[in-house]
Amino acid sequence: MKSLIAEPLLRWYASRQRSLPWRTRPEPYAVWVAEIMAQQTRLESMLPYYQRWMARFPTLRSLAKAEQQEVLGLWEGLGYYSRARNLHRAAQTVLADYGGQLPARLEDLRRLPGIGAYTAGAIASLAFGLDAPAVDGNAIRVLARVFDVDLPVGSGAAQKRFWQLAAEHLPPGQAAAYNQALMDLGASLCSPRRPQCDLCPLEAVCLARQRGLQAQRPVRALRTATPLRRMAAAVLCRGEQVLVACRPEGGLLGGLWEFPNLELQGDQPAQAQLRAAFGLRSKGRALGEFTHAYSHFKVELQAWAYVVKQVPTSLASGGVWVPLADLQDLPMGKLDRSIANLLRHGLE
Ligand code: ADE
Repeated sequence: MKSLIAEPLLRWYASRQRSLPWRTRPEPYAVWVAEIMAQQTRLESMLPYYQRWMARFPTLRSLAKAEQQEVLGLWEGLGYYSRARNLHRAAQTVLADYGGQLPARLEDLRRLPGIGAYTAGAIASLAFGLDAPAVDGNAIRVLARVFDVDLPVGSGAAQKRFWQLAAEHLPPGQAAAYNQALMDLGASLCSPRRPQCDLCPLEAVCLARQRGLQAQRPVRALRTATPLRRMAAAVLCRGEQVLVACRPEGGLLGGLWEFPNLELQGDQPAQAQLRAAFGLRSKGRALGEFTHAYSHFKVELQAWAYVVKQVPTSLASGGVWVPLADLQDLPMGKLDRSIANLLRHGLE
Protein backbone atom coordinates (compact mmCIF):
# COMPACT_ATOMS: atom_id res chain seq x y z
CA MET A 1 0.00 0.00 0.00
CA LYS A 2 1.33 3.40 -0.89
CA SER A 3 1.02 5.77 2.03
CA LEU A 4 -0.73 9.09 1.57
CA ILE A 5 1.13 10.65 4.47
CA ALA A 6 4.75 9.49 4.07
CA GLU A 7 5.70 11.62 1.09
CA PRO A 8 4.27 14.96 2.21
CA LEU A 9 5.67 14.35 5.70
CA LEU A 10 9.17 13.64 4.41
CA ARG A 11 9.10 16.65 2.11
CA TRP A 12 7.98 18.91 4.96
CA TYR A 13 10.63 17.44 7.27
CA ALA A 14 13.40 17.93 4.71
CA SER A 15 12.80 21.68 4.71
CA ARG A 16 11.60 22.27 8.29
CA GLN A 17 13.41 19.86 10.55
CA ARG A 18 14.98 21.24 13.66
CA SER A 19 18.70 20.87 13.86
CA LEU A 20 19.45 18.70 16.87
CA PRO A 21 22.85 17.31 17.88
CA TRP A 22 21.82 13.65 17.70
CA ARG A 23 20.30 14.21 14.26
CA THR A 24 23.53 15.60 12.86
CA ARG A 25 25.50 12.64 14.24
CA PRO A 26 23.05 9.85 15.07
CA GLU A 27 25.49 7.70 17.01
CA PRO A 28 23.61 5.04 19.08
CA TYR A 29 24.72 6.23 22.53
CA ALA A 30 23.94 9.88 21.69
CA VAL A 31 20.50 8.98 20.32
CA TRP A 32 19.76 6.86 23.37
CA VAL A 33 20.68 9.60 25.87
CA ALA A 34 18.66 12.17 23.90
CA GLU A 35 15.58 9.98 23.64
CA ILE A 36 15.60 9.16 27.35
CA MET A 37 16.08 12.82 28.30
CA ALA A 38 13.35 13.95 25.92
CA GLN A 39 10.71 11.81 27.62
CA GLN A 40 8.45 14.02 29.73
CA THR A 41 10.71 16.96 28.90
CA ARG A 42 10.51 19.46 26.05
CA LEU A 43 13.44 19.42 23.65
CA GLU A 44 14.23 23.08 24.34
CA SER A 45 14.44 22.40 28.08
CA MET A 46 16.50 19.25 27.80
CA LEU A 47 19.10 20.53 25.30
CA PRO A 48 21.38 22.30 27.83
CA TYR A 49 21.27 19.17 30.02
CA TYR A 50 22.07 17.04 27.00
CA GLN A 51 25.10 19.17 26.09
CA ARG A 52 26.43 19.05 29.64
CA TRP A 53 25.85 15.32 29.87
CA MET A 54 27.63 14.57 26.60
CA ALA A 55 30.55 16.79 27.61
CA ARG A 56 30.95 14.84 30.86
CA PHE A 57 29.96 11.37 29.59
CA PRO A 58 30.92 11.41 25.91
CA THR A 59 30.86 7.61 25.60
CA LEU A 60 28.74 4.79 26.93
CA ARG A 61 31.81 3.49 28.71
CA SER A 62 32.40 6.78 30.55
CA LEU A 63 28.80 6.68 31.79
CA ALA A 64 29.04 3.04 32.86
CA LYS A 65 32.16 3.81 34.89
CA ALA A 66 30.75 6.91 36.64
CA GLU A 67 29.51 7.10 40.23
CA GLN A 68 25.73 7.17 40.57
CA GLN A 69 25.89 10.39 42.60
CA GLU A 70 27.54 12.22 39.72
CA VAL A 71 25.03 10.80 37.25
CA LEU A 72 22.13 11.99 39.42
CA GLY A 73 23.81 15.37 39.87
CA LEU A 74 23.94 15.93 36.11
CA TRP A 75 20.30 14.90 35.84
CA GLU A 76 19.16 17.24 38.60
CA GLY A 77 16.42 19.54 37.37
CA LEU A 78 15.09 17.13 34.74
CA GLY A 79 12.99 15.12 37.22
CA TYR A 80 11.86 11.51 36.82
CA TYR A 81 15.18 10.34 38.20
CA SER A 82 14.55 6.66 37.50
CA ARG A 83 15.45 7.60 33.92
CA ALA A 84 18.98 8.50 35.02
CA ARG A 85 19.38 5.47 37.26
CA ASN A 86 18.17 3.16 34.48
CA LEU A 87 20.41 4.81 31.88
CA HIS A 88 23.37 4.30 34.18
CA ARG A 89 22.51 0.66 34.93
CA ALA A 90 21.78 -0.08 31.28
CA ALA A 91 25.14 1.39 30.25
CA GLN A 92 26.82 -1.00 32.69
CA THR A 93 24.85 -3.92 31.22
CA VAL A 94 25.75 -2.93 27.65
CA LEU A 95 29.41 -2.68 28.62
CA ALA A 96 29.34 -6.10 30.29
CA ASP A 97 27.13 -7.98 27.83
CA TYR A 98 27.70 -6.25 24.47
CA GLY A 99 31.24 -4.92 24.78
CA GLY A 100 29.96 -1.34 25.09
CA GLN A 101 28.02 -1.30 21.79
CA LEU A 102 24.26 -0.86 22.02
CA PRO A 103 22.49 -3.72 20.26
CA ALA A 104 20.38 -2.86 17.21
CA ARG A 105 17.63 -5.45 17.61
CA LEU A 106 14.38 -4.26 19.19
CA GLU A 107 14.12 -7.33 21.45
CA ASP A 108 17.63 -6.80 22.82
CA LEU A 109 17.10 -3.07 23.32
CA ARG A 110 13.84 -3.65 25.17
CA ARG A 111 15.50 -5.91 27.69
CA LEU A 112 17.66 -3.02 28.92
CA PRO A 113 16.47 -1.04 31.97
CA GLY A 114 14.41 2.00 31.03
CA ILE A 115 14.03 1.14 27.34
CA GLY A 116 10.39 0.69 26.33
CA ALA A 117 8.71 0.42 22.94
CA TYR A 118 9.25 4.09 22.06
CA THR A 119 12.94 4.30 22.97
CA ALA A 120 13.72 0.96 21.32
CA GLY A 121 12.01 2.12 18.11
CA ALA A 122 13.76 5.48 18.21
CA ILE A 123 17.23 3.95 18.69
CA ALA A 124 16.64 1.23 16.08
CA SER A 125 15.45 3.72 13.46
CA LEU A 126 17.53 6.83 14.18
CA ALA A 127 20.82 5.14 15.03
CA PHE A 128 20.66 1.86 13.10
CA GLY A 129 18.44 2.77 10.16
CA LEU A 130 16.00 -0.08 10.83
CA ASP A 131 12.39 0.18 9.64
CA ALA A 132 10.96 0.49 13.15
CA PRO A 133 8.21 2.93 14.15
CA ALA A 134 8.64 5.15 17.25
CA VAL A 135 5.43 6.73 18.49
CA ASP A 136 5.53 9.40 21.20
CA GLY A 137 2.78 11.71 22.44
CA ASN A 138 3.30 14.23 19.64
CA ALA A 139 3.17 11.54 16.96
CA ILE A 140 0.01 10.16 18.55
CA ARG A 141 -1.72 13.53 18.21
CA VAL A 142 -0.88 13.66 14.50
CA LEU A 143 -2.00 10.07 13.86
CA ALA A 144 -5.19 10.45 15.92
CA ARG A 145 -6.16 13.49 13.85
CA VAL A 146 -5.10 12.34 10.40
CA PHE A 147 -6.87 8.98 10.80
CA ASP A 148 -9.61 10.27 13.12
CA VAL A 149 -8.93 7.65 15.79
CA ASP A 150 -11.75 7.86 18.33
CA LEU A 151 -10.39 5.42 20.93
CA PRO A 152 -9.44 6.89 24.36
CA VAL A 153 -5.77 7.67 24.02
CA GLY A 154 -4.54 5.72 27.05
CA SER A 155 -6.32 2.49 26.16
CA GLY A 156 -4.45 -0.58 24.98
CA ALA A 157 -6.60 -0.65 21.85
CA ALA A 158 -5.64 2.93 20.98
CA GLN A 159 -1.95 2.32 21.55
CA LYS A 160 -2.09 -0.74 19.33
CA ARG A 161 -3.83 1.24 16.60
CA PHE A 162 -1.31 4.12 16.69
CA TRP A 163 1.65 1.77 16.43
CA GLN A 164 -0.05 -0.16 13.66
CA LEU A 165 -0.80 3.02 11.70
CA ALA A 166 2.75 4.28 12.14
CA ALA A 167 4.13 0.93 10.95
CA GLU A 168 1.77 0.66 7.96
CA HIS A 169 2.73 4.07 6.64
CA LEU A 170 6.45 3.86 7.35
CA PRO A 171 8.42 4.37 4.11
CA PRO A 172 11.07 1.60 3.88
CA GLY A 173 14.59 2.88 4.44
CA GLN A 174 13.42 6.25 5.78
CA ALA A 175 12.20 5.45 9.27
CA ALA A 176 14.43 8.00 10.99
CA ALA A 177 13.11 10.94 8.98
CA TYR A 178 9.53 9.64 9.06
CA ASN A 179 9.44 9.04 12.83
CA GLN A 180 10.98 12.39 13.60
CA ALA A 181 8.77 14.17 11.08
CA LEU A 182 5.67 12.85 12.88
CA MET A 183 7.09 14.01 16.20
CA ASP A 184 8.17 17.42 14.90
CA LEU A 185 4.81 18.00 13.27
CA GLY A 186 3.04 17.15 16.53
CA ALA A 187 5.41 19.43 18.43
CA SER A 188 4.83 22.36 16.06
CA LEU A 189 1.89 22.77 13.67
CA CYS A 190 -0.31 19.97 15.03
CA SER A 191 -0.37 21.43 18.53
CA PRO A 192 -2.95 20.38 21.13
CA ARG A 193 -4.94 23.63 21.29
CA ARG A 194 -4.39 25.65 18.15
CA PRO A 195 -3.33 23.44 15.29
CA GLN A 196 -2.20 25.44 12.27
CA CYS A 197 -3.98 23.27 9.74
CA ASP A 198 -3.59 25.70 6.85
CA LEU A 199 0.22 25.25 7.04
CA CYS A 200 0.15 21.49 7.58
CA PRO A 201 1.58 19.14 4.93
CA LEU A 202 -1.16 16.62 5.79
CA GLU A 203 -4.08 19.02 5.59
CA ALA A 204 -5.50 17.47 2.41
CA VAL A 205 -5.64 13.96 3.88
CA CYS A 206 -6.47 14.76 7.53
CA LEU A 207 -9.84 13.24 8.47
CA ALA A 208 -10.19 15.27 11.68
CA ARG A 209 -9.62 18.44 9.64
CA GLN A 210 -12.29 17.41 7.14
CA ARG A 211 -14.72 16.61 9.95
CA GLY A 212 -13.86 19.57 12.16
CA LEU A 213 -12.79 17.26 14.98
CA GLN A 214 -9.22 18.45 15.63
CA ALA A 215 -10.11 19.64 19.15
CA GLN A 216 -11.59 16.23 20.00
CA ARG A 217 -8.57 14.23 18.81
CA PRO A 218 -6.87 12.47 20.40
CA VAL A 219 -9.71 11.42 22.73
CA ARG A 220 -8.49 12.25 26.22
CA ALA A 221 -8.90 9.79 29.06
CA LEU A 222 -10.99 11.25 31.90
CA ARG A 223 -8.76 13.20 34.21
CA THR A 224 -8.80 12.11 37.81
CA ALA A 225 -7.92 14.74 40.40
CA THR A 226 -4.24 14.68 41.39
CA PRO A 227 -3.94 13.80 45.08
CA LEU A 228 -2.25 16.31 47.34
CA ARG A 229 0.27 15.17 49.92
CA ARG A 230 0.95 17.54 52.79
CA MET A 231 4.45 17.16 54.13
CA ALA A 232 6.87 18.78 56.54
CA ALA A 233 10.65 18.78 56.63
CA ALA A 234 12.96 19.45 59.57
CA VAL A 235 16.18 21.30 58.83
CA LEU A 236 18.47 20.50 61.74
CA CYS A 237 21.29 23.00 62.08
CA ARG A 238 24.46 22.54 64.08
CA GLY A 239 26.74 25.52 63.57
CA GLU A 240 27.28 25.78 59.83
CA GLN A 241 26.15 22.23 59.21
CA VAL A 242 22.78 20.69 58.43
CA LEU A 243 21.55 17.12 58.64
CA VAL A 244 20.66 15.33 55.40
CA ALA A 245 20.07 11.73 54.38
CA CYS A 246 20.27 9.80 51.12
CA ARG A 247 17.00 8.28 49.93
CA PRO A 248 17.05 4.51 49.50
CA GLU A 249 17.63 2.92 46.09
CA GLY A 250 14.63 1.68 44.24
CA GLY A 251 12.00 4.15 45.44
CA LEU A 252 10.93 7.60 44.30
CA LEU A 253 13.95 9.93 44.11
CA GLY A 254 16.23 7.01 45.08
CA GLY A 255 19.86 8.09 45.56
CA LEU A 256 18.93 11.76 45.98
CA TRP A 257 19.51 13.66 49.23
CA GLU A 258 16.82 15.11 51.45
CA PHE A 259 16.12 16.80 54.77
CA PRO A 260 14.31 14.61 57.33
CA ASN A 261 10.62 14.78 56.53
CA LEU A 262 7.22 13.23 57.13
CA GLU A 263 3.77 13.22 55.67
CA LEU A 264 1.40 15.28 57.81
CA GLN A 265 -1.55 13.45 59.33
CA GLY A 266 -4.77 15.10 60.51
CA ASP A 267 -4.97 18.70 61.68
CA GLN A 268 -2.12 18.93 64.17
CA PRO A 269 0.29 21.71 63.19
CA ALA A 270 3.41 20.66 61.28
CA GLN A 271 5.61 21.88 64.13
CA ALA A 272 3.95 19.53 66.62
CA GLN A 273 4.15 16.57 64.27
CA LEU A 274 7.83 17.19 63.48
CA ARG A 275 8.69 17.55 67.15
CA ALA A 276 6.86 14.37 68.08
CA ALA A 277 8.19 12.29 65.20
CA PHE A 278 11.81 13.35 65.45
CA GLY A 279 12.05 13.99 69.20
CA LEU A 280 12.91 17.68 68.80
CA ARG A 281 12.89 19.97 71.85
CA SER A 282 12.86 23.49 70.42
CA LYS A 283 9.88 25.09 68.71
CA GLY A 284 11.66 25.64 65.46
CA ARG A 285 11.54 28.48 62.97
CA ALA A 286 9.35 28.47 59.89
CA LEU A 287 11.48 28.59 56.72
CA GLY A 288 8.66 28.60 54.22
CA GLU A 289 6.29 26.48 52.20
CA PHE A 290 7.17 24.81 48.91
CA THR A 291 5.08 23.00 46.32
CA HIS A 292 5.91 20.59 43.56
CA ALA A 293 3.86 18.49 41.15
CA TYR A 294 5.10 14.98 40.53
CA SER A 295 3.54 12.82 37.84
CA HIS A 296 0.83 11.33 40.05
CA PHE A 297 0.54 13.63 43.06
CA LYS A 298 1.28 17.11 44.29
CA VAL A 299 3.26 17.95 47.38
CA GLU A 300 2.91 20.94 49.68
CA LEU A 301 5.81 20.96 52.06
CA GLN A 302 6.47 23.16 55.08
CA ALA A 303 10.08 23.48 56.12
CA TRP A 304 11.06 24.21 59.71
CA ALA A 305 14.55 24.90 61.03
CA TYR A 306 15.86 23.70 64.40
CA VAL A 307 19.11 24.54 66.09
CA VAL A 308 20.35 21.38 67.81
CA LYS A 309 23.47 20.29 69.64
CA GLN A 310 23.23 16.64 68.76
CA VAL A 311 21.24 14.38 66.50
CA PRO A 312 17.99 13.19 68.08
CA THR A 313 18.10 9.39 68.41
CA SER A 314 15.23 9.10 65.95
CA LEU A 315 17.51 10.50 63.25
CA ALA A 316 20.80 9.03 64.40
CA SER A 317 21.03 6.35 61.71
CA GLY A 318 21.32 7.45 58.13
CA GLY A 319 21.74 11.18 58.74
CA VAL A 320 24.92 12.97 57.69
CA TRP A 321 26.07 16.42 58.82
CA VAL A 322 27.04 18.47 55.79
CA PRO A 323 28.42 22.03 55.66
CA LEU A 324 25.87 24.39 54.11
CA ALA A 325 28.34 25.26 51.39
CA ASP A 326 28.51 21.60 50.28
CA LEU A 327 24.77 21.12 49.78
CA GLN A 328 25.14 22.18 46.17
CA ASP A 329 27.31 19.12 45.49
CA LEU A 330 24.62 16.65 46.58
CA PRO A 331 21.94 15.67 44.05
CA MET A 332 18.49 16.63 45.34
CA GLY A 333 14.91 16.71 44.17
CA LYS A 334 13.13 19.98 43.50
CA LEU A 335 11.67 20.54 46.99
CA ASP A 336 14.85 19.80 48.92
CA ARG A 337 16.86 21.90 46.47
CA SER A 338 14.52 24.83 47.13
CA ILE A 339 15.14 24.47 50.88
CA ALA A 340 18.89 24.14 50.33
CA ASN A 341 18.95 27.27 48.16
CA LEU A 342 17.03 29.20 50.77
CA LEU A 343 19.52 28.14 53.43
CA ARG A 344 22.51 29.01 51.30
CA HIS A 345 21.18 32.39 50.30
CA GLY A 346 20.34 33.06 53.92
CA LEU A 347 24.06 32.85 54.52
CA GLU A 348 25.07 35.48 52.00
N1 ADE B 1 10.98 13.96 20.91
C1 ADE B 1 11.76 13.02 21.43
N2 ADE B 1 12.69 12.63 20.57
C2 ADE B 1 12.49 13.34 19.45
C3 ADE B 1 13.12 13.38 18.19
N3 ADE B 1 14.16 12.59 17.92
N4 ADE B 1 12.64 14.22 17.29
C4 ADE B 1 11.58 14.98 17.58
N5 ADE B 1 10.95 15.00 18.74
C5 ADE B 1 11.41 14.18 19.66
